[in-house]
Amino acid sequence: MSATPLRTQVGIIGAGPSGLLLSHLLHLAGIDSVVLETRSRDYVEQRVRAGLLEQGSVETLTEAGVADRLHREGLVHHGIELRFDGVGHRIPLTDLTGKVVTIYGQQEVVKDLIAARLAAGARRDHAPILFEVEDVAVHDVTGAAPRITFRHGGVDHVLDCDFIGGCDGFHGICRPAIPDLAIYERVYPFAWLGILSRSRPVSEELIYARHAEGFALATMRSNIVSRLYLQCAPDEDLALWPDERIWAELHRRLGCGAELEEGEIFQKGVTPMRSFVCETMRHGRLFLAGDAAHIVPPTGAKGMNLAIADIRVLARGLERFYAKGGTELLDRYAEICLRRIWKGQRFSWWMTSMLHRFDGEDPFEHRVQVAELDYVSTSRAAMTTLAENYVGLPFEV
Ligand code: APR
Ligand code: PHB
Repeated sequence: MSATPLRTQVGIIGAGPSGLLLSHLLHLAGIDSVVLETRSRDYVEQRVRAGLLEQGSVETLTEAGVADRLHREGLVHHGIELRFDGVGHRIPLTDLTGKVVTIYGQQEVVKDLIAARLAAGARRDHAPILFEVEDVAVHDVTGAAPRITFRHGGVDHVLDCDFIGGCDGFHGICRPAIPDLAIYERVYPFAWLGILSRSRPVSEELIYARHAEGFALATMRSNIVSRLYLQCAPDEDLALWPDERIWAELHRRLGCGAELEEGEIFQKGVTPMRSFVCETMRHGRLFLAGDAAHIVPPTGAKGMNLAIADIRVLARGLERFYAKGGTELLDRYAEICLRRIWKGQRFSWWMTSMLHRFDGEDPFEHRVQVAELDYVSTSRAAMTTLAENYVGLPFEV
């Protein structure tokens, strides 16, 4: 069965932070969009991901009017701890940069954006977000009238639009629809085993620990929920990680005693580690943003922040197009985003290299790694470098 064609100004594929924020910023600028998402609303709202927002990301969400709960529930942090050779060293982020970071789960950002889109969309003649769509495909993206075809509720649809936002994450269909991609990539020989536990955070601030057995990170979601990570093998079998083994390993690598509370573990998962940049972020009227264009290993907590930065540029470019008809900013979209993306890549790769155990590493490399940590925790200049990247580099637009 085929339905009559739908029409919008910007067709957006993917209801992660990128697609939802794009749709919301466009709405604030009076531009109509439809978001198409393969998963259910429940699924995207429950999907556990990282949860650290740079100050600029919080400001972006605040200016967009979607940060009331973030300001109520988010945990503001002024420093982090690097722990190695069993000793902790604080990096005073705020003293060094005047800025803070905020802990707030990515799925909470997603919930807030969905609520805002649905509230605004209730007054429109088409739904702002369609969940559980199938067979999404893009067409005619190099012409003036691109189209998206998809299936929803057993009916085939065509969405006519002026532009397409390819916000469908790393495994989406938008990037593969572009020919001759310029791709740069690094896959790491390890992953992170992450858990959520009903227990008080080990400390008020995040602890990044380097240990001979591998990296560990103690972070949190609230004052009663801890988020803890352990370096593991890329193909790690979770069945080999009963709760007791996870706790024993966390105690060992974090060098913690009773301050590491062993609460009920209610979520366990393995996060792969990859650095990936697709420099072809635009093909005609199709624009890639967020994870569809780039992936970072989670050590620098940059994934969601880089996505938000892309969307700022894309939304502004589209706003200018509709207001004045010019495409100068859209034409510079990839160039503007890539400058910041590559700095985020560099930082995430550097944090990853400094803090993980590399199998087969020779003693020389190991000593250089420890010297780097020692330098970063004792030199104010080096600490400032880490801190200004961690809290977020300035936006380009
Ligand atoms: N059609 C429609 N939706 C799709 C398709 C498709 N063919 N393929 C994937 N999607 C959806 C996914 O289900 C997901 O909800 O696109 C969305 C992409 O969202 P994210 O993966 O969260 O990517 P993005 O919005 O760019 O956010 C980047 O996500 O993985 C983290 O570390 C990353 O924090 C960063 C953030
Ligand atoms: C998280 O809270 O999930 C988190 C924080 C910092 C990181 C990675 C993940 O570097």
